[in-house]
Amino acid sequence: MGEGISDYTKFCVDLRRHMWMAGVELDLRRLIWQIAVTGKYISAKIHESNRKLAGFKNIYGEEQLALDKSSDEILKNQLQFSGFVREYASEERDQVITIGQGQEKYFVTADPLDGSSLVDTNLAIGTIIGIHNGTILGKGRDTMVAALYITYGPLITMVYSAGKGTHEFVLNREGEYVLSQENIRLRDKGDIYSLGGLRRDWTEAHLKFVEYLEREGYKLRYSGGFVPDINQIVIKGGGIFTYPALRKSPEGKLRLLFELQPMAFLVEQAGGVATDGNNPILDIPVEKLGQRSPIYIGSRFEVETARAFLNEKQEVQG
Ligand code: F6P
Repeated sequence: MGEGISDYTKFCVDLRRHMWMAGVELDLRRLIWQIAVTGKYISAKIHESNRKLAGFKNIYGEEQLALDKSSDEILKNQLQFSGFVREYASEERDQVITIGQGQEKYFVTADPLDGSSLVDTNLAIGTIIGIHNGTILGKGRDTMVAALYITYGPLITMVYSAGKGTHEFVLNREGEYVLSQENIRLRDKGDIYSLGGLRRDWTEAHLKFVEYLEREGYKLRYSGGFVPDINQIVIKGGGIFTYPALRKSPEGKLRLLFELQPMAFLVEQAGGVATDGNNPILDIPVEKLGQRSPIYIGSRFEVETARAFLNEKQEVQG
C-alpha cells in the first residue's frame, strides 16, 4: 500500500466510528447509519431519473413514479427492516404509518427528497430526517433525539446530530461516509442571507428587516432548495435563512415536522438559533402532520435582529 493511502486511512473517521466515539446510543447509531446508507440508494434513483438529461428515454414507456414518491418508498422499505422504527411520517403521505411490530422506540419523520423540482436543472437537492422518541406530538425539544440531512450535490454529504454537536460527513469514492467537519459552530453573526417567498407578499416588518440586511451588505444566497440553502449557512458557519409569514399565508410555506424541526435541531446543536420570528421552532407544539410555520434560522445575531424588527423595536444595533 502506498504511503499516501495509509495516511489517508489513518486520518479517516467513518460515521459508525464517530457515533461510537461520541457516545451515541447503540440503537440510534444503527438507525442513523441505516438512513445514511439509504441516501446512497436515493442518490442512485436520482441518477437513474437524470438519464433523460443524458438523452435516454424510458425504454418501457412506463409512467415512472415521481422521484419524491420513489424516494419515500425506498426510505420506508429500509426503515421497515431496520428493527428500530415503529412509526413513519413523510411529507409524501397524508397519514402516519406503522412500520414496526409495536415495541420499537423511534418515530421517524422524513422529507425524502426536498427540492425535487430542481432535479432537471441539476441543482443540489436533499433528504431531511427527524428522529423522535416514541411520539411526534408536543414540542420537538421534548420528542426529538436526532436529526440529519443529506445533500445530493457534486458530492453527497450528510450532516447529523444526535444531541452531541453537529457533524458533517462526505461520502467518499469507496462508499464510506467520512468525517469532514466535527462540532460545527455557527458564528454569532454571519454575512449571507437566503430569503424565501416573493417580496410583494412579505409583511412590512419582514421587508424592513430585509432592507436592514441589504444596507449592512449581507450577500444574497438562495437556490430554492431548503437543504442546500441551510447547508450553506451551516458549512459557511453563519448567516440567516428565512421563509417568512406571507400576507396571504401567515404560516409561511415550510412544514414544521418534515423540514423545520430537523434543521432547527441541527442548527441549535451548532450554536445557532431557529425561531418562527418569535418562538423557538423546537418549542412550537406539533398539532397536525401538515403544520407549517414561518422560519428564521442561522446565526444568533441575525435571528434576534429579525425578532426585534418583527416586534417593531427598531433600535437594533449592528
Ligand atoms: O418545500 C419545498 C421547497 O422547494 C424548499 O426546498 C424551498 O426552500 C422552498 O420550497 C422554495 O420555495 P419558493 O419556490 O417559494 O422559493
